[in-house]
Amino acid sequence: MKAFITRQIPEVGLQLLRAAGITVTAHTEKRELSREELTNACLQHDALLSVGGGNKIDAEFLNTCRHLKVVSLMAVGYDNVDVDAAKQLNIPIGHTPGVLSNATADTAFLLMLAVSRKAFYLHNTIARGEWGFFEPTKNLGMELNGRTLGIFGLGKIGATLARKCRGAYDMPVIYHNRGRNEAAERELGAEWVPFDELLHRSDVLSLHAALTPETKGLFDENAFAKMKPSSIFINTARGGMHNELHLLKALQEGRIWGAGLDVTNPEPMDPDHPLLQMPNVAVLPHIGSATVEARNGMAVIAAQNLIAGLKGEPLPHAVKG
Ligand code: DGY
Repeated sequence: MKAFITRQIPEVGLQLLRAAGITVTAHTEKRELSREELTNACLQHDALLSVGGGNKIDAEFLNTCRHLKVVSLMAVGYDNVDVDAAKQLNIPIGHTPGVLSNATADTAFLLMLAVSRKAFYLHNTIARGEWGFFEPTKNLGMELNGRTLGIFGLGKIGATLARKCRGAYDMPVIYHNRGRNEAAERELGAEWVPFDELLHRSDVLSLHAALTPETKGLFDENAFAKMKPSSIFINTARGGMHNELHLLKALQEGRIWGAGLDVTNPEPMDPDHPLLQMPNVAVLPHIGSATVEARNGMAVIAAQNLIAGLKGEPLPHAVKG
C-alpha cells in the first residue's frame, strides 16, 4: 500500500505508517503543491495524508482520484474538503480533533493578552529605536480581570480557552452555538446567548467555529458595529469568517478596541497590510497548533486514520460532515 503526504510531518507519524507496512512518499519542498501535482501524485497512491488546509479536496479532485481508500487530514478544520462528494464516493475522510485544543486555545489567550497590552506593536517600537522617555499616560493597555469572554463556537477549543480565562482572570463566559453545550454550561457556568447579544456583551470575542457557508464573512461591518468600542476581537479559527477590510475600518474608527488574528484573509497576509502597523493589533502566521505536543498528536491521529482507511476499517477520527 502506498500513501502520499503533502508535507514533511513529525517522525512519530511516519514511524506508525512504516510499521504498518505502508510505503510513504512525502512532498518535502517548501511550497504548496499545485492541483495538478497533487492529482498526479494521488493517481499513483492508495491514500492521501493532506497537511493543513491548503489543498482543495473538492468533488472534481475526488472524482478523479476515486480510487483513494482514505483521505486523512492533518488538521481539525475540513472546510477545504467536499465532505458530501467524499461520502457519495465512499472515500472516508479523517481529521485530528482534540490534540490541538490546548495549543490553539493558548494561541487565542496569547493574542488576547498581547492585544490588551499592545505587546507586538511595542516590541516593534523597540526594534525601531523608539524606546523613549517614560510617560505615565502613554502605551496604556487594558486589564482583563472580570471582563466578559464571548465565544462563537463553544466546542473543545473554545471550552479550553474559557477554562483558561476563568482560571486566570475570572472572566464570565457567554457563548453562541447553533445548539447548547450543556457540559460547558455546567462546568464553566457558560451562558448561551443569541448572536447579537454575544456581539453586544463580549469584552473579548473569540471565534472557534468552523468555516461554513453560514459563518463565511459573518464578522463584517454590521457585526463590528454591534460590538463595544472597548472590545477585543480574536480569530484563531479561519480568516474567511471575518471581513478584513471591515475589521480594519472598525479599528480605525474606534468601533472596537483591538484585534488578534492567527488566521487572515487571505493567507499569507500582505506584509504591507495596515493592520500590521496598528498598536492594538497582534497577528500570527496561522500557528494555532504549532507546538511539539500538538503536532506530534496530530501526526499520530492522521497516521492512525490513514492506516484504518487502508485496512477498510472505520477511522478512529472520521469527519462526520
Ligand atoms: C487546523 O488544524 O484546522 C489548522 O488550522 C490547520 O489547518
